[in-house]
Amino acid sequence: MINLILLGLPGAGKGTVSERIVDKYKIAHISTGDMFREAMANKTPVGLEAKSYIDQGNLVPDEVTAKLVEERLKQSDTDKGFILDGFPRTTVQAELLDGITKRLDKPLTNVIAIDVDEDVLIKRLSARYICKDCGATYNKISNPTKVEGTCDRCGGHDFFQREDDKPEVVKNRLEVNKKMNAPLRDYYEKKGILSVVNGEQSPEQVFADVDKILSKD
Ligand code: AP5
Repeated sequence: MINLILLGLPGAGKGTVSERIVDKYKIAHISTGDMFREAMANKTPVGLEAKSYIDQGNLVPDEVTAKLVEERLKQSDTDKGFILDGFPRTTVQAELLDGITKRLDKPLTNVIAIDVDEDVLIKRLSARYICKDCGATYNKISNPTKVEGTCDRCGGHDFFQREDDKPEVVKNRLEVNKKMNAPLRDYYEKKGILSVVNGEQSPEQVFADVDKILSKD
């Protein structure tokens, strides 16, 4: 059973490695960022609240986010394992998650932090583009589509840049997340379940390192 948290600053490659983990282990992928973006697109009350924070690169309040995750973890597709991508992001969220996993009897098995230097992150985020039809993520520098202008996964031709990947917002996102990152890592290091991988390698090598950790259990 794999109940995994992926930690990493914006652009570290959490979403990219999650796709590969899901392919191999067939576990549920829970990205709070994706959940908020879906809620914003559907203009739900949570989406409308989240928008004011996300558009500025700030964090959505802990309780709102934790509630969303708890509801998601109640769904049966998480019974065979899950990846939490982008949650927790603060030690308060980590404490709330301890309560959630206890209540639902779904204990964490691994916490993996993906390390990438800030300069690399800024470059990566400004080069990220996403397929409008299927949500596949690419990068103009490191991971372009095989055929220019055509999505590898679905053949779509429309792509977009995330609002919060614009340079002025990226700066604040990194600042906000950097403050929270170190205490969060300490929190899981103290629990003895933290592993760290170098996220400045190719996506394939990052996955290989993550896979080595996951297949030990
Ligand atoms: P979220 O969507 O989670 O954004 P994030 O953490 O900022 O993470 P990203 O999706 O930007 O990065 P990633 O690590 O997944 O990188 P990716 O694989 O795409 O959250 C958005 C917002 O929602 C937050 O700012 C906040 O407001 C709110 N929110 C979410 N969760 C919350 C929470 N728990 N509490 C409060 N608020 C919350 O890769 C990035 C790029 O790099 C891509 O182009 C990719 O192709 C490329 N790339 C990936 N890996 C590599 C590699 N190894 N080498 C070269 N390029 C690579």
